[in-house]
Amino acid sequence: MGIRPQGVYLITGGLGGMGLAMARWLTEGYGARIVLTSRSKLPSRRGWSSWLRRHPSDHPLSVRLRALLDLESAGAEIWPVTADASDPEEMSELVAQIKDRFGAVHGVIHAAGVTRDGLTATKRPHTFDEVLRAKAQGAFVLDQVTRGEPLDWTIYCSSVAGLWGGAGQSDYAAANRYLDALAAWRNAQARPTTSIDWGLWGEAGMAVGHVDRVRESGLLLPMATRPALEALGRAVALDAPQIIVAALGPRALQVSSPGVSRQAIPESETPATWTSLAELEDRLAARLARLLELDVAALDRSQNFAEMGLDSILVVQWTRELEAMLGRSLPFNTLQQHGTVRALAQYLLDLRRSRGAQARP
Ligand SMILES: NC(=O)c1ccc[n+]([C@@H]2O[C@H](COP(=O)([O-])OP(=O)(O)OC[C@H]3O[C@@H](n4cnc5c(N)ncnc54)[C@H](OP(=O)(O)O)[C@@H]3O)[C@@H](O)[C@H]2O)c1
Repeated sequence: MGIRPQGVYLITGGLGGMGLAMARWLTEGYGARIVLTSRSKLPSRRGWSSWLRRHPSDHPLSVRLRALLDLESAGAEIWPVTADASDPEEMSELVAQIKDRFGAVHGVIHAAGVTRDGLTATKRPHTFDEVLRAKAQGAFVLDQVTRGEPLDWTIYCSSVAGLWGGAGQSDYAAANRYLDALAAWRNAQARPTTSIDWGLWGEAGMAVGHVDRVRESGLLLPMATRPALEALGRAVALDAPQIIVAALGPRALQVSSPGVSRQAIPESETPATWTSLAELEDRLAARLARLLELDVAALDRSQNFAEMGLDSILVVQWTRELEAMLGRSLPFNTLQQHGTVRALAQYLLDLRRSRGAQARP
């Protein structure tokens, strides 16, 4: 079943970048009536204009209020509600209120989510909890509170991080994997659910600030909003438990097909273009300086990468580059275990020597 004209749709996390884009698309294209939830409270409807006058236009709440006013002025029927997707009481009450107000709920898009990237060893339990709560607990609660509703479909906004992982994203990857599994389980019970493993939305949402870095990693390219929404429409009609919607970069092939990916590795990154520890150190220092936009001459080769500002996305990118250079995979925590230019150079040299020794008869 596709999208109903004037259908009633609940979008959790609906005041985020993707949720608002989906709301606009559903209202413009289908005259849908949309309930948008978030945890943050909005000022009362009467106070929106004065709030906007008193606050900077790039304040996150200003952005949300302007988007809601735009939707309203385009004639959209939208209802923003404060509700935590992971709270069974709030969500159960919300479903009852939607039915009171609109008579039914026809579909759900679960777009509530947060990221709290960081290396597992240094993460605090509450950050795991926060990430899992919005996505996984939220999906479980939605499953419970809509159990009696004959929904046409449920969509989970999952991520390719659930398939590929990502340094610093152990909790986020697990939460997305949970969505994929829950979708399969619900379909087995004839409750139509599609988990969309989204790639990178380039124009709206939580990843907009990371587009350049992710593009550089070669794994994903940014998707424009319009084709992403068209893919959402196809996903709803497709009735499949799990699909990937992503613009893949050249290195994405490497993840699933190492043999093919080698063709995409630049000549300068092929093995055996360095011979000594000093040469390798120079090369690592130069690459690190470019990644961090630092002057290579000022770079301290004994300073820890994390202290220098190497974040999880750069860790993934650099690890992949090193794998390409060596022609072999590396433990995911290589840059944590060998966390300075000096230590990393020594490790990589030892690794190559030991491989060379193994290869000799
Ligand atoms: N953007 C991408 O490229 C991308 C790629 C793959 C997957 N995804 C997934 O798609 C979903 C939407 O992403 P986005 O880019 O729109 O992110 P976003 O702009 O950060 O929006 C996420 C929204 O979720 C809300 N939220 C967080 N926890 C919540 C909870 N417990 N209950 C209700 N609302 C909650 C947040 O608002 P409050 O803080 O006010 O609650 C926020 O508005 C996320 O699940 C994300 O993981 C996004």
